[in-house]
Amino acid sequence: MKQVILTGDRPTGRLHVGHYVGSLKERVRLQNSGLYNEIYIMIADAQALTDNAEHPEKVRQNIMQVALDYLSCGLDPEKSTLFIQSMVPELTELTFYYMNLVTVSRVQRNPTVKAEIQMRNFEASIPVGFFCYPISQAADITAFRATAVPVGEDQIPMLEQCKEIVHKFNTVYGETLTDPQIILPQNQSCLRLPGIDGKAKMSKSLGNCIYLSDTEEDVRKKVMSMFTDPNHLRIEDPGRVEGNPVFIYLDAFSRPEYFAEFLPEYSGLDELKAHYTRGGLGDVKVKKFLNRCLQAELAPIRERRAYWEQRPEEVFEILKAGCETAQNTAAATLGDVRRAMRIDYFEDSNLLK
Ligand code: TRP
Repeated sequence: MKQVILTGDRPTGRLHVGHYVGSLKERVRLQNSGLYNEIYIMIADAQALTDNAEHPEKVRQNIMQVALDYLSCGLDPEKSTLFIQSMVPELTELTFYYMNLVTVSRVQRNPTVKAEIQMRNFEASIPVGFFCYPISQAADITAFRATAVPVGEDQIPMLEQCKEIVHKFNTVYGETLTDPQIILPQNQSCLRLPGIDGKAKMSKSLGNCIYLSDTEEDVRKKVMSMFTDPNHLRIEDPGRVEGNPVFIYLDAFSRPEYFAEFLPEYSGLDELKAHYTRGGLGDVKVKKFLNRCLQAELAPIRERRAYWEQRPEEVFEILKAGCETAQNTAAATLGDVRRAMRIDYFEDSNLLK
């Protein structure tokens, strides 16, 4: 069977290091593994509009930013099709048919939807489009016949809902849609990176993100101001590594090579953690090391960003060509769907009978 990846991000802001370890890095690895026949990476502007209807300019402004983030992380337009969701209207039509296969109470029980409704204080004023976005996401995935969907763990309920729609569709109309598998990041600590303030999630509105597009100096300042163990006041005090953002980031970003290069007096992360726990290791030293690890990870990304920032017309063409390719694929699936549902009225003269 053809191996196909579909995944994407809402363009509501620049992407941050949480997106990077939680999903972008994995995508690049999968892209370069050579195991996939087709890879589609979608800028989910239509989904972003479901809770930004009054601010389409915010979504618009971030399309190029997210495209630059993708290219700078190493997504390669020769290998991956980068496209914009709303430029593929077939996705909307699929959504409309899938809506009939899902109950309102099922969407209400979707944990991601629940959490997002709470986060946005929607309560009694949930936009219908927002409510339906898990269904639209199933359309995104199935339109490309994705076999693999690399995402962060917050998307698990979306994938479950998608699989239910696939099974329901195939049961009602006959085997048509492809059942997708979720691919989560390999490193456990990458499942969710906290904000630099120690809050559970990095989010633009909380102002606690390290962005992929931050300068070297921005990153250094943010790391040096990071929240650590509030009870670790003096260097001699024993410290806590569990729940300590600096150590969570080290779990995600440090590598044996970085110890050899930047902190050779420690054999690795376990020894560093043990020293911190027993006392005698200051936060500044750990943060300086984290900064070097992060800078080492981000330097190639920054370099590629500088390259693409100077070539906006090329980025524009990459997206435009990507949208065309994506639309062709989605149109073929939509044809299969309409045929399965027998709403392909003019494909032959059966309607006359
Ligand atoms: N929901 C994803 C996010 O919040 C974006 C997205 C839209 C997506 N459609 C998708 C991800 C399909 C994976 C598959 O960023």
